[in-house]
Amino acid sequence: LNYLTPKTRHEILELLLNGLKRMEYRGYDSTGVAIDSPLNKDIVMVKRVGKVKVLEDAVAEHFSGKEYDDPILTHVGIAHTRWATHGVPCEKNSHPQRSDEGNSFIVVHNGIVTNYKDIKTFLEKRGYVFESDTDTEVIAKLVHHLWKKHPGYSFRELVEQVIQQLEGAFSIAIKSKHFPGECVASRRSSPLLVGIKTKTRLSTDHIPILYGKDDKAPQTCEKDTDAAKTQVLPRTESTSEFMPLEEKEVEYFFASDASAVIEHTNRVIYLEDDDVAAVRDGVLSIHRLKKCLDDPHAREITTLKMEIQQIMKGNYDYFMLKEIFEQPESVVNTMRGRMRFDSDTVVLGGIKDFIPEIKRCRRLMLIGCGTSYHSAVATRQLLEELTELPVMVELASDFLDRNTPIFRDDVCFFISQSGETADSLMALRYCKQRGALIVGITNTVGSSICRESHCGVHINAGPEIGVASTKAYTSQFISLVMFALVMSEDRLSLQQRRLEIIRALSKLPDQIRDVLRLDNQVQELAKDLFQHKSLLIMGRGYNFATCLEGALKVKELTYMHSEGIMAGELKHGPLALIDDRMPVMMIVLRDPVYIKCMNALQQVTSRKGCPIIICEEGDEETKSFSSRSLEIPRTVDCLQGILTVIPMQLLSYHIAVLRGCDVDCPRNLAKSVTVE
Ligand code: G6P
Repeated sequence: LNYLTPKTRHEILELLLNGLKRMEYRGYDSTGVAIDSPLNKDIVMVKRVGKVKVLEDAVAEHFSGKEYDDPILTHVGIAHTRWATHGVPCEKNSHPQRSDEGNSFIVVHNGIVTNYKDIKTFLEKRGYVFESDTDTEVIAKLVHHLWKKHPGYSFRELVEQVIQQLEGAFSIAIKSKHFPGECVASRRSSPLLVGIKTKTRLSTDHIPILYGKDDKAPQTCEKDTDAAKTQVLPRTESTSEFMPLEEKEVEYFFASDASAVIEHTNRVIYLEDDDVAAVRDGVLSIHRLKKCLDDPHAREITTLKMEIQQIMKGNYDYFMLKEIFEQPESVVNTMRGRMRFDSDTVVLGGIKDFIPEIKRCRRLMLIGCGTSYHSAVATRQLLEELTELPVMVELASDFLDRNTPIFRDDVCFFISQSGETADSLMALRYCKQRGALIVGITNTVGSSICRESHCGVHINAGPEIGVASTKAYTSQFISLVMFALVMSEDRLSLQQRRLEIIRALSKLPDQIRDVLRLDNQVQELAKDLFQHKSLLIMGRGYNFATCLEGALKVKELTYMHSEGIMAGELKHGPLALIDDRMPVMMIVLRDPVYIKCMNALQQVTSRKGCPIIICEEGDEETKSFSSRSLEIPRTVDCLQGILTVIPMQLLSYHIAVLRGCDVDCPRNLAKSVTVE
């Protein structure tokens, strides 16, 4: 919302659509946008199935003519790109969802309202007719219901009442034709930030929080049995005379992540659970219903370091390809200021003060989902070796399903590129409640995992946009290796090993460049493989994680079946899959499991299998077992996984291109899964 200078609808829509394009990687089933109508006070919505481009064309068609370029004074627009949870992707299930045919209240929502059925029944009894299959629609209709009931309430107060009734996760932005020029947003468990753009430098670095005057227990306002679901809660102080920002001309942006706003501003506030942020007459205010003892007085305005170029494709066809090729630099950024190669020392500023406590712990737990989980698998062996502690690696969802016992002297690492994955975040809260020390390993400064951890390491890989994770994996891997090095700093018996790893880390960026030069060879391999139905990837020891991660990349991007197989398990089942047609890749490097890998290789070749081998440069003996191989530079065993995963990233990319798949937006997936 720009307070003083009028904008045209065209400008507002363009701004919203560009923001959506930047966030498209988070979901791209269907899209929608809403702004004020050219004709009257109504709100116009345009929604489409598919990606933002489809919406863009529909918007241009809808608003053709003069009104499109007319300046308007109410500058509030909302827009959404969806990853379907409740209800198939179709126009009626797209957001914004509305309260009624007149679009009185419209809402965009990220998350899942788990008690939507109860609220829906409550509202249906009061005459509301639902038109979509979404959980979100209850939010729009509930605001409408409360607005009719409490005509004197401000927009912000209505939203405050609504969020008290919601269970589950949400970040929402609501617009109303009854409150033109206003927008109210709130969050619980799903991310939400406010971007602030001013012409001059901001005169403040925080926004005070307004707390409710009265924190008595809520009273029920309805007589029905299900009425407890709509309670009247204390109202918060009026903000009419409150002007937290002195700037006269200011634009505010509510967004799920910074990539949507970074081209406008790098000044953001990360909202906390149950904050209600309201913009009215060009003024932003942040409210909470109750003040608890240690609650802060203000929300800090953070300056982001992100640059717009980082979220642009540059000369690459796809973000994923750009991110694969960025790895020589991204790993340097992960090590920058932490690895001191002249003195062979490692410092992790974000966990330095907690190292004595970590050293005293009972065990280390590494928890994550998808690719982030694989980085834990990849480094587990080294962590066991250098920390001499038991190390458990866990998929966040399974960890929660099992109600895994957690103790005060456990140290739990949460590994997450986005820092917002719901499963990981819930596992974090579970461990925190039980008194464990929480260490966040994330790529997103200001993310929920980052903020809710006691300490942590930013992997500093730079924004990752391609849905399939690549550079974040190698940076997570290196972050965990650096942690292992820190933990073994004062162990005399481990110094030789530490030195070997530190030296190898210093050579890694150049070796990654060498591996990237295999791109043409990998592309040729992809031509042989892309029409097959399946691809098996085998290895063991330090390279098992590459098999899992390689198979995940192939599945995500190409929709082919792919399986990462622990070579030691071959004879216990997977061998039955082998014949002269089944494509197999094997990682066979000169490390402590070399002989065992060679056994597996021979078991495959004696069943007429002809695996493609990833081996070390110049290893003619191993190469002789296959007609096709990829040679990677030699490094220390525990870092091999970084060099072996890159050919797999490239292979999945090329197969996906040959199969005509959308590399950056694979079907049914999203980059950041903020629902359970
Ligand atoms: C989604 C993404 C994966 C990612 C996983 C964990 O499934 O599609 O690429 O590995 O979430 O995400 P996180 O942000 O927690 O690393």
